[in-house]
Amino acid sequence: MRLPKGTLKRAMQYASYLTPESARRKPSAIRALQPLVALPGMISLGGGMPNANLFPIKKMSFTLDDGTVMESVPSELNAALQYSPTPGLPELVKRLRTMQIVEHNPPEYEGGISISVVPGSQDGLAKIFDMLVSEQDSLLIEAPTYSGTLAALEAKGCKLVGVPTDELGLNPASLRQVLEGWDVTHDGRKPRVLYTIPTGANPTGASMNLERKREVYALAQEHELLIVEDDPYYYMQYAETRTPSFLSMDVDGRVLRTDSFSKIVSAGVRIGCVTGPKALVERMDLHNQATIMHTSGLSQYAVLQVLRHWGVGDDMPNGAANRVYPAWESHLRKNNAFYLKQCDVFFEAAAKHLRGDDGKPLAEYKRPTAGMFVWMKLLGVTDSTQLIMTEAVEKKVLLVPGSAFFPGAPKTQYVRAAFSVASHAEIDTAMQRLGDMLRTYLRKQNHKLS
Ligand SMILES: Cc1ncc(COP(=O)(O)O)c(C=O)c1O
Repeated sequence: MRLPKGTLKRAMQYASYLTPESARRKPSAIRALQPLVALPGMISLGGGMPNANLFPIKKMSFTLDDGTVMESVPSELNAALQYSPTPGLPELVKRLRTMQIVEHNPPEYEGGISISVVPGSQDGLAKIFDMLVSEQDSLLIEAPTYSGTLAALEAKGCKLVGVPTDELGLNPASLRQVLEGWDVTHDGRKPRVLYTIPTGANPTGASMNLERKREVYALAQEHELLIVEDDPYYYMQYAETRTPSFLSMDVDGRVLRTDSFSKIVSAGVRIGCVTGPKALVERMDLHNQATIMHTSGLSQYAVLQVLRHWGVGDDMPNGAANRVYPAWESHLRKNNAFYLKQCDVFFEAAAKHLRGDDGKPLAEYKRPTAGMFVWMKLLGVTDSTQLIMTEAVEKKVLLVPGSAFFPGAPKTQYVRAAFSVASHAEIDTAMQRLGDMLRTYLRKQNHKLS
């Protein structure tokens, strides 16, 4: 579903959101020349590029699941093997830009939106946090949230303010309470950034609906928050139509969005992208100039070839809105049909096996509408970490203890299950083992009490 195109309502003061470290970043003089190298007729004696003719790799090909063989084009392969611009291979960036406009129809920011290819959204997020969150800051996160993000943030020493979630993800009433109850004297600087995983969240599997997103966006406007929209499961929505993103409703340029190809093309290619206001994306690029220089050219080239094959990001003679890419959509439908079936099998197995001696459920959990995760509350358990690391390992069933998804890893009765890779038979056996383990554990606990 596409929202009407918005217009920029207010000028964001991006500089005021930057950490001192990010504000100090300057373009690398040599990197700044990089885009000029590709200009027609340019003879480059600048830069320190090796001579691509000497690279030993001369041809690459891979076969897609529909049998199509993708052969490398010599000049493109040379460009992919050479140093390339920090935001990404120009054709890939162009296609991603078109793809984002087609999908999200974002407002026209001053200078337009920018896109930068990153080596996985994880790296994009880490760079975004380096840009926006310093040790003195407080950052709004969902509680629970993705452990990879916590790994990046906990090392910063910033204050992580967990906003409770429910079956529809981040709870706007709780967010309002945190923001309105903020006491600068006691709590320090008011949070300026909200990090959210709006679709098929990791670890809860929860997805925000449009109404909720609108409420959260309105709160962000009211309290001058930037929204970091981490959405790797966006294309894994099982419903026919996708719930629009925060980017699609952004009229101020306050959304910085991370996308990932990990779940829909390949996790090992390490390709994701950051989309948002030019001022922020280009600042993140300055960090990339000083660290990775650019995402792996070969990975970018592989993804570019796949997108090109599907027609994703083809030029749009009649404007972006309402354009669909049939081959891409059919790939997504196939993906989602697979995960939906896995989800069905998981829920059937859980209903069958997670019953106590008295026939009552051993766990509470909600069915996700996107993604690959189920957040399970183990009834009668106080510390799932201890249970998983001892009894579950012994029973040969592995789940992630819920503590991994809260700052400071507190004791919790939750665990995260992923139904993405186990076979149907394995899912059934896993639930059987989990059920056995929980019944044994609860019997022992009851015995101790009696
Ligand atoms: C919520 C969330 N964000 C980001 C990532 C990182 O994804 P990528 O493979 O694109 O780095 C993951 C991966 O599991 C995730 O679950």
